[in-house]
Amino acid sequence: SLVSSTPLLVEARKQGYGIVAFNVHTLEMLQAVVDAAAESRSPLILQTTVGTVKHLGIDYIVGAAQAAAKQASVPIALHLDHCQDFDLILQCMRAGYTSVMIDQSMHPFERNVEMTRKVVEVARALNVNVEAELGKVGGVEDDIRVEDGMETLADPEECRRFVELTGVPTLAPAIGTAHGIYKGEPNIDFARIEEIAGKVAVPLVLHGGSGIPEGQVRRCVSLGMAKMNVATELKNAFSLSLQESFTANPAELDPRSYMAAAKKVVKRMALEKMQLCGCTGKA
Ligand code: 13P
Ligand code: ZN
Ligand code: NA
Repeated sequence: SLVSSTPLLVEARKQGYGIVAFNVHTLEMLQAVVDAAAESRSPLILQTTVGTVKHLGIDYIVGAAQAAAKQASVPIALHLDHCQDFDLILQCMRAGYTSVMIDQSMHPFERNVEMTRKVVEVARALNVNVEAELGKVGGVEDDIRVEDGMETLADPEECRRFVELTGVPTLAPAIGTAHGIYKGEPNIDFARIEEIAGKVAVPLVLHGGSGIPEGQVRRCVSLGMAKMNVATELKNAFSLSLQESFTANPAELDPRSYMAAAKKVVKRMALEKMQLCGCTGKA
């Protein structure tokens, strides 16, 4: 069955590797990343945004993830990404999600603490992992949009106080990455990651994983980023594969044909990300 991601991430931080959390939008994407995890013996975090919860429905997502967990011989967690809505978080936890993100990064520190603390309290009773964000990650993720110049980096001392006040088991500090593909290179503040990691013992989460140069991903992971979120690159690869299939063969209207091709592309990309973060062979 699905497991809480907390112990997986604690182990990852301890051993210095990263677990990749893939945002999935369709059954085929989910199956492809599960295949990649099983084949490479990697612990896996499946995640969905609020938009995908609305698109597919909680029970379909949980059902598919549970089916995957039952078959796969590697640990799999199911995470709700970037949620601002306490009631939806409760619903997802009750339905079978084993990890949730309460994103109050757009609100003042005190409100972030208060809401996160509330979620942590319920999650603890249900053995569900919780992730919170400090600072503001740039770019666009579903309806959460942070305009250029409006992103802010997490303050290390605030990170320490935040974890102490909330008891949150995983923390996503904004350190210069952004959602979506970068126009140039990301401007990652490595010294800040190091400082935060020195003050905070819990596993850290790297948002905006798409488009970060490989060497920089490795450096982030080595400094304490134990989870890396990948959404845009996977979604684009899936969609581009479909686009290519239709262009190359417009008469092929059987979903089992073009979806099989898209699954292969997603699986290959998932394997690459897992190798990059060093989690292969860790399950
Ligand atoms: P990307 O859009 O860069 O893949 O970021 C993913 C993410 O952080 C999801 O929460
Ligand atoms: Zn994110
Ligand atoms: Na990105």
